[in-house]
Amino acid sequence: MKVAVTGANGMLGGEAVAQLAGKHEVLALGFGPCRLPPGSFHWVDADLGDGVSVERALLDFGAQAVLHAGAMTDVDRCEREPDAAWRANVGGSHQVARACRTLGARLVAVSTDYVFDGTAGPYSEDDIPNPRGVYARSKLAGEWVALSLVPDCAVARVAVVYSGRPGAKSTFATQVVEKLSRGEPVKAFSDQFVSTTLAANGATMCLELLLETGYRGVLHTSGNGVVGRVRFAGMLAAIFGIAGEIVPVKTSDGNLPAPRPLRGGLTVDRAVTLLRNPPLSIDESLRRFRDEWEWRRRR
Ligand SMILES: NC(=O)c1ccc[n+]([C@@H]2O[C@H](COP(=O)([O-])OP(=O)(O)OC[C@H]3O[C@@H](n4cnc5c(N)ncnc54)[C@H](OP(=O)(O)O)[C@@H]3O)[C@@H](O)[C@H]2O)c1
Repeated sequence: MKVAVTGANGMLGGEAVAQLAGKHEVLALGFGPCRLPPGSFHWVDADLGDGVSVERALLDFGAQAVLHAGAMTDVDRCEREPDAAWRANVGGSHQVARACRTLGARLVAVSTDYVFDGTAGPYSEDDIPNPRGVYARSKLAGEWVALSLVPDCAVARVAVVYSGRPGAKSTFATQVVEKLSRGEPVKAFSDQFVSTTLAANGATMCLELLLETGYRGVLHTSGNGVVGRVRFAGMLAAIFGIAGEIVPVKTSDGNLPAPRPLRGGLTVDRAVTLLRNPPLSIDESLRRFRDEWEWRRRR
């Protein structure tokens, strides 16, 4: 089958390409040169924000299924550069959805827990979004573009993605391990409660949704559970066997440009029922993250 993945240099997209390679004909779309390890896929450099190049690449490839995992994900940069955020996250989703509609291709568009305001989480698929901030609003608009143009598509919401894969970007999880290993204290927001997503698990669920189901509408595909960030940092330290100081701080002390949902998190009961590959618990995700990390260090 001809399967395309946007955001292929990213945590979730990179995992998806690795899981697909060798099993399908794979088009990996990213911004600029490929940063993935060599593998059995074609690479196309295409900008989600330019209005044309991603759509053209998907049409040229003749995609039969598309995992749209690309997005401008730096929430503070989105707040500072709202036009760029809108072009990438709404315009990019528009390009992908147009191509899927033309081709009759199956589409899974990846979205975020940030569509909720974080006053009363965890949230189910039936809860009403109330996004705060540019990133959150642009992602909800991206959901609507996908669902409007390709009504049979699925929207897969994930939350606080992290990965130990070689080349994956720095996240709260990787910073906790790196800083504590160096003997440095780690700051963690004591008032943020979140679901988390190991990228490998999120990618597996999104690909199952894409290739093995005809599910329509929103599905929550984060890991299973809600955790405070201080506790999450403590769990990471325990699983890596490193002692160290975790310093609780308030979100408001960070002076961050973009608002953060505080009582957030996603419920995943529907994914547990629907999918053969279920959302992993926080403990199991952290064990797999440690394995990825140790494999990366040995390379
Ligand atoms: N990261 C999270 O904590 C998180 C939480 C909830 C939902 N999500 C959603 O999950 C999906 C996957 O994100 P991720 O976690 O894998 O984050 P990521 O590692 O930041 O991946 C996003 C990818 O999109 C690419 N991208 C950004 N702007 C682009 C543009 N204009 N044209 C083409 N590509 C562009 C980025 O390219 P570069 O690598 O070159 O920057 C990056 O590779 C996204 O839809 C995101 O909104 C993420």
